[in-house]
Amino acid sequence: MTTRPFLITVLPGDGVGLEVTPEAVKILEVVARCSSRAFEFVEFPIGGVSVDLLGVSMTDECLEHCKKSDAVLLGALGDPKYNHLPPAELPERALLVLRKELNCYANLRPAYEFPGLTDASPLRPELLAGTDFVVVRELTGGLYYGEPRGIDNDRAFNTMVYTRPEIERVAHTAFQVARTRRNHVTSVDKANALEVSRLWRQVVNEVHASYSDVKLDHLFVDNCAMALVTRPNSFDVILTENTFGDILSDEAAVLTGSIGLLPSASIGGDVGLYEPVHGSAPDIAGQGIANPIATILSAALLLRHSANMLDEAQAVEEAVRAILAKGHATPDIMRDGCNAVNTTEMGTLIAEELERSLS
Ligand code: NAD
Ligand code: IPM
Ligand code: MN
Repeated sequence: MTTRPFLITVLPGDGVGLEVTPEAVKILEVVARCSSRAFEFVEFPIGGVSVDLLGVSMTDECLEHCKKSDAVLLGALGDPKYNHLPPAELPERALLVLRKELNCYANLRPAYEFPGLTDASPLRPELLAGTDFVVVRELTGGLYYGEPRGIDNDRAFNTMVYTRPEIERVAHTAFQVARTRRNHVTSVDKANALEVSRLWRQVVNEVHASYSDVKLDHLFVDNCAMALVTRPNSFDVILTENTFGDILSDEAAVLTGSIGLLPSASIGGDVGLYEPVHGSAPDIAGQGIANPIATILSAALLLRHSANMLDEAQAVEEAVRAILAKGHATPDIMRDGCNAVNTTEMGTLIAEELERSLS
């Protein structure tokens, strides 16, 4: 019996998304070549590129293809030339629709120390030592999706709303993730000011009753923002709502050296969505210097969470660590004594390292 290929929808998007996504595909092609698994890649424009070509930020055809795929790999969306548009028409809106339509309610953003990169971090090495945590960001609720929303002349409003089931399911994800790590969840909220956070804290405490082997503590989001830079190595799993998770994960990203390193997996629905934490980086787009590692590590998360290829996922992560440890660096992580490489050179170095380890 022949099994059908594993179908990956590839959505490079805008700006550096167009440069980093092919490097992650290159890595997945090595995995396919070195394993008995066949991958099929089908690419669609999305975001500003799609507005330019097709008049909308995501076509129905693209969305339907994503829904029938085994996984979706996305670069980044957003183009400053569309900044004048109302929020509902921005290229980024396609991402919010895609996440909701795929029901990817749990966004995992792992941040850890990379070998040789302590000098690229703004933190002193002794503060960073041993840092290894994952942000579990609720991704399909909260301020991003709450109704009512709108702008009436000089008054604008958004609604932060969460229901018990929305909190329960992402809390279960966080506790389950903690069981695969160091059994510690820190739930982050603003329960001293927001009703939504009150319910969040109550429901997380209730879900915790089924995970007595996992330690749970709570932190206000302002305190967490500070703790991430004063004691990042004290965290294991950070569970938080959509907006707080967006902000804290960029802070987390930079601790490890660069936002160009931080991957993400958005899970919960039938199809996983994998994307770097960073955006389209218009300030460096088109120069071929973006760091492709966040997207390559997102491909590793795709292998782990959607393709059940755990050994291959680990091999990709190890290949990235090996190339970084050898001192190859894109400009965002450049340090004294490093070998300067561009986006495609970094991708090729990792692909060659991976090929050696898998064959
Ligand atoms: P950004 O993440 O695009 O860039 C922030 C900074 O990080 C910039 O200085 C950029 O050069 C740098 N950076 C980002 N990715 C990098 C990489 N791979 N290698 C090296 N340096 C990198 O955030 P922004 O500038 O606030 O947003 C730009 C656009 O991207 C906006 O339109 C925004 O809405 C969009 N955005 C999209 C996503 C996404 O698609 N998931 C995420 C964040 C921002
Ligand atoms: C991210 C981005 C998006 C978000 C934007 C582009 C809507 O910042 O993926 O972190 O806020 O979720
Ligand atoms: Mn963000």
